[in-house]
Amino acid sequence: MSHPILQAFGIDAAHSGTYLGQGEWAQSRDGGRLIPVNPASGEALAEVWGSTAADYALLVERAQASFAEWRSVPAPRRGEAVRLCGEALRRHKDALGSLVALEMGKIKAEGDGEVQEMIDIADFAVGQSRMLYGNSMHSERPGHRMYEQWHPLGLVGVVSAFNFPVAVWAWNAMLAAICGNITLWKPSPKTPLTAIATLKICNEALREAGFPDIFYLFNDAATELAQDFVDDKRIPLISFTGSTRIGRLVGERVARRMGRSLLELGGNNAIIVDASADLKLAIPAIVFGAVGTCGQRCTSTRRVFVHRSIFDNVVETLVSAYRQVESKIGDPTEDGTLMGPLNSQASVDAYLDAIEQAKAAGGRIRTGGAALDRPGFFVLPTLVTDLENSAAIVQAETFAPILYVMPYDELDEAIAMQNDVPQGLSSAIFTQDLKAAERFLAASGSDCGIANVNIGTSGAEIGGAFGGEKDTGGGRESGSDAWKVYMRRQTNTINYSDALPLAQGIKFEW
Ligand code: UN1
Repeated sequence: MSHPILQAFGIDAAHSGTYLGQGEWAQSRDGGRLIPVNPASGEALAEVWGSTAADYALLVERAQASFAEWRSVPAPRRGEAVRLCGEALRRHKDALGSLVALEMGKIKAEGDGEVQEMIDIADFAVGQSRMLYGNSMHSERPGHRMYEQWHPLGLVGVVSAFNFPVAVWAWNAMLAAICGNITLWKPSPKTPLTAIATLKICNEALREAGFPDIFYLFNDAATELAQDFVDDKRIPLISFTGSTRIGRLVGERVARRMGRSLLELGGNNAIIVDASADLKLAIPAIVFGAVGTCGQRCTSTRRVFVHRSIFDNVVETLVSAYRQVESKIGDPTEDGTLMGPLNSQASVDAYLDAIEQAKAAGGRIRTGGAALDRPGFFVLPTLVTDLENSAAIVQAETFAPILYVMPYDELDEAIAMQNDVPQGLSSAIFTQDLKAAERFLAASGSDCGIANVNIGTSGAEIGGAFGGEKDTGGGRESGSDAWKVYMRRQTNTINYSDALPLAQGIKFEW
């Protein structure tokens, strides 16, 4: 018998990890298996069969057939399909949010919040389906019309990470769908169950209304499939969320075959707290940013620069806030828990290793710094001072609740330090000084894809384009005009005159 939350989705103790379309889950058993684990107990949740090369071949073939049909469905009608998925996700929000908490280890409120992001992007995509606008340009030639249109791209590959096991897929898949594409999803091997549940929810809604299969799923149990996927010329876009190390490989491989990649990689996000900051806002933003999702968001706050005049006060206040959080560490599926476990033992090891490195570099552990002696992957939220921004461990993204707090004297110095890391995802300043806020947002200010004033680094809304610069990979997904990455642009010129005037005034007569 599987866990009751899994039963709610019709997921048995052993389940196929491959959705082949046409309502069919692959039955092959020789593609290896994935064993997702409950991070709060360390116990296996179920067994998921990995996909075989034959499963993958059939899936791509069927996805191509789906695309041949879907690309000609009018975009607002495609929006209707996505609307139905959003409605189905609304109905299953509680159960899917619980499954996210169970399998990933984030607290239930964050699991629900993640499903809410899926619903929000579905709503956004429905509206966008009527707004796939192209420009029209004035031709320099008489009797000519020039415009651009946006066509579907084809198959869109989504490789998602364990930390947002369902929302990241939805940001891509909902927009890709209204743009006329078919999405092939390879979730993190740590969270295949939330992916299976998500596909079941959406596919049921689509099938009931007679829509074709627009979402496919496969799971790679440490075979070569993920690499073949990245190298597959039939997939014009690979959207990858994960580490900078793997993202760099993905980007290089996709570029080699002239494909398009959308990379959402690591962050090393900082908050600047200037002398005028309203600490009623800054303190909760820092605490939520650093310990929320147990420090496992790409947007988690990892560094804080505090004006020297308020440094000691801010550190003390943070330490006492951290102690309160400590008393609310527990099972993420239970009410009242503020901080759940890390996702795996490997994450606990990386956390402990980072703390050793911080100490060796002269860092002072102000609170935390240890794993909890209980089943599951629990650690204490940790605050470190006395390190320079240039210290190797501060420059690295450790996917854990470790925060480095550093003093500064001049705003320019704080901005320079905040920028002086390889990553460029999210950043924030807390200030009541208009000039300081504008300096932070200016061209010479934050170099990140996200720059906020008086709100923290994590918790971005789906309406804005999400992503960052430098080692973060440069991709943008979700809101604004991020839909364009899922389409190909075509420039069209139409001559309705009786002459053939050449551009640039060229005369060509014989
Ligand atoms: C991520 O950490 O991979 O801004 C994405 C946030 C969320 C997305 C985070 N909306 O924290």
